[in-house]
Amino acid sequence: MIDLRSDTLTRPVPEMLAAMAAAEVGDEQYLEDPTTNELQRRMAELLGHEAALFLPTATMANQAALRAQTRPGGVLLAEERTHILVYEWGGPAIHSGLIMRGVPSEHGRLTPRHVWAENDPDLGPGGVVVLENTHRSSGGTIWPLDELRATIDAARERGAAVHLDGARLFNASVAAGLPPSAWASLADSVTICFSKGLACPTGAILAGSAELIERAWESKYLFGGALRQSGVIAAAMLWSLDHHVERLAEDHARARRLAEGIGVEAPETNFVSIPDEPGLEERLAERGVLVSNLRPGWLRAVTYLGITDEDVDMAAQRMADVLAVRA
Ligand SMILES: Cc1ncc(COP(=O)(O)O)c(C=O)c1O
Repeated sequence: MIDLRSDTLTRPVPEMLAAMAAAEVGDEQYLEDPTTNELQRRMAELLGHEAALFLPTATMANQAALRAQTRPGGVLLAEERTHILVYEWGGPAIHSGLIMRGVPSEHGRLTPRHVWAENDPDLGPGGVVVLENTHRSSGGTIWPLDELRATIDAARERGAAVHLDGARLFNASVAAGLPPSAWASLADSVTICFSKGLACPTGAILAGSAELIERAWESKYLFGGALRQSGVIAAAMLWSLDHHVERLAEDHARARRLAEGIGVEAPETNFVSIPDEPGLEERLAERGVLVSNLRPGWLRAVTYLGITDEDVDMAAQRMADVLAVRA
């Protein structure tokens, strides 16, 4: 079986497990875990922010970010298939009392026009504009910097905060040849996930101003995310920063190879978008290739550490067979 459902299927490699076993640890809640402290210092610098906070998951990082810089009744504006709107169980409404407003947009990218739209009279102080890079449901698309800057400027003019869900920001960075701070430093807060292409078992980072991170600590406790010897996880994350960032280019190359093999559009990063039809996912599974849902009408095949060139070639062959029958 070739499992292309998600890049969250990565497994820790033996060297990463060795780094975890050797981690120097302390009590995180006393701010005494040296490995976690080092990870936070390094990530703040890498993302161009004053401070950073370790959290167990990107979902928790996103929710802590929203709670730290909005107030109940505020509007959350995002592209309609954004992870925070669709896959986080209503968290922005539940944890922060936000009114969630999703709007359709091309490639998952909100424009200044969306931010100024007349039907959003309430977007302003206490509200937040959420941007996602790469954009999951659009097939791992990358935000061009000038477009991101224009949308952020519009949000600021309206007085709203800006959160960047950069769960896969390192994919964007490697594919575009820009440092992650190029996008991250423009937003008020940014989330990075380490359990996707970076191949850690879990772990995320939230970065922002020192004041915002101080407030995010409150949510970290509230959500039950304040850990003790978190250095065991932070060690995996530090290891991945040193060994798994540049290799994301291999995932992107394999995704392009797969797209070419089955005759669909070449992806910008590691998500191959496949037009869906009834029963297609099941037929692919019968031929030994697992894919999953991208957005209504589309399936995705995702490359990640553990998927080899041979896997991609075999998957492309089997998928092309199934797709040919369809045509
Ligand atoms: C864009 C995006 N943001 C956030 C998350 C949440 O990550 P986690 O599973 O670490 O909570 C995901 C997970 O798939 C994602 O795709």
